[in-house]
Amino acid sequence: KALDSCLCLNDFERHARRLLPEPIFGYISAAAEDRAAFDNNVNAFKSCAFIHRVLVDVSHRDCGIALFDQEYAQPFGIAPVGLSALFTYRGDLALSNAASSRRIPMIMSGSSLIPLEEVAQRNPQAWFQAYLPGDADQIDALMRRVIRAGFKTLVITVDTPVHPNKEHYIRSGFSTPLRFTPRLFWQGVSHPRWLAGTFLKTVAKHGIPHFENNYASRGAPIVSRHIERDFSDRGHLNWEHVKLIRRLWKHPLVIKGILSPQDASMAAELGADGIILSNHGGRQLDGAVSPFEMLPLVVERCPRTPIMLDGGIRRGSDVLKCLALGARCVFVGRPFAYAAGVAGQRGIEKAIDLLSAEIDRNMAMLGLTRLGDLRADGQRFLRGPDA
Ligand code: FNR
Repeated sequence: KALDSCLCLNDFERHARRLLPEPIFGYISAAAEDRAAFDNNVNAFKSCAFIHRVLVDVSHRDCGIALFDQEYAQPFGIAPVGLSALFTYRGDLALSNAASSRRIPMIMSGSSLIPLEEVAQRNPQAWFQAYLPGDADQIDALMRRVIRAGFKTLVITVDTPVHPNKEHYIRSGFSTPLRFTPRLFWQGVSHPRWLAGTFLKTVAKHGIPHFENNYASRGAPIVSRHIERDFSDRGHLNWEHVKLIRRLWKHPLVIKGILSPQDASMAAELGADGIILSNHGGRQLDGAVSPFEMLPLVVERCPRTPIMLDGGIRRGSDVLKCLALGARCVFVGRPFAYAAGVAGQRGIEKAIDLLSAEIDRNMAMLGLTRLGDLRADGQRFLRGPDA
């Protein structure tokens, strides 16, 4: 029923707020400090507007894209979201199954609660996202595991040198591992669907606290230890490590979390095959510029590297504005997390379908039959500060 009343991506948030315990909803919706970076992301799309073309035969439209030798049905994918098994039972598989049923890219988070091998096995097209410490041995060990699992695209997230301010987690009662406070107990009891369908099922399958840890051997302590650690304990990841990763990883390598054109060109020079412009959905540095604002400058600076971005994308029109400014593909985070919380795989599929329909409809109204035309000649379709 909740699913029937979701007519656009933002509707999932409203239902997830009701269906998920407050700490879990709070974890998804959290943004750093005063949410200025988050607001920048959402508002940035208002800075430019479409100029549609008319009397074009748009009876056949193709929303597909090709990226890293793969064909995808849509120009958007699922951004990595950690701990998704807390939103719905075995959330990483729900996200991955939905992505493969709709033929869109999906990035599995390195902060998953289930083994990365299971996702790779079910969806060989899934990309894997890693948070790496600046430690050559650990980088080497993780690379080996990801290669063995069969992933073909690796994303390294580079905008988390330290943990962000945890103010929002504390306010909503979220922690890793989940602390069994009276508040959490009450929240669980008052959300029986989540308690029985997600949490207790997970406990029955994996036990507490034997969640998998993607960085260590199977059966190792729970992933939250990694999430909690101060990344600086093991040395910070730096550009030298990127060179090492490039040597170890023969398949497409994507760097996520870049905003500056200088960093983007450094990444391209060191052999990155793709860049995801991102401020982590406004969850790291508050007041960060929106990736959308930086997009034209980065595309100009790195004309041969596929530039992607995420942050604040909620409508098909947002996706098309990104493509018009030169993005090859975009990613969406929170809405798919909320959709998972509302109805698991079915919810995520519905969210994908809604966004796909908006893109298709908007293409027709723009006078477009292929997305390649938009990327090649975006200026023709946009008016705005940078267009
Ligand atoms: C994230 N994000 C994220 N990024 C990453 O590289 N690894 C991760 O494990 C996570 N985990 C995560 C959890 C949750 C709950 C959220 C909301 C986000 C950031 C994510 O990949 C993406 O950059 C943003 O979510 C994009 O912004 P929107 O679409 O949420 O506005």
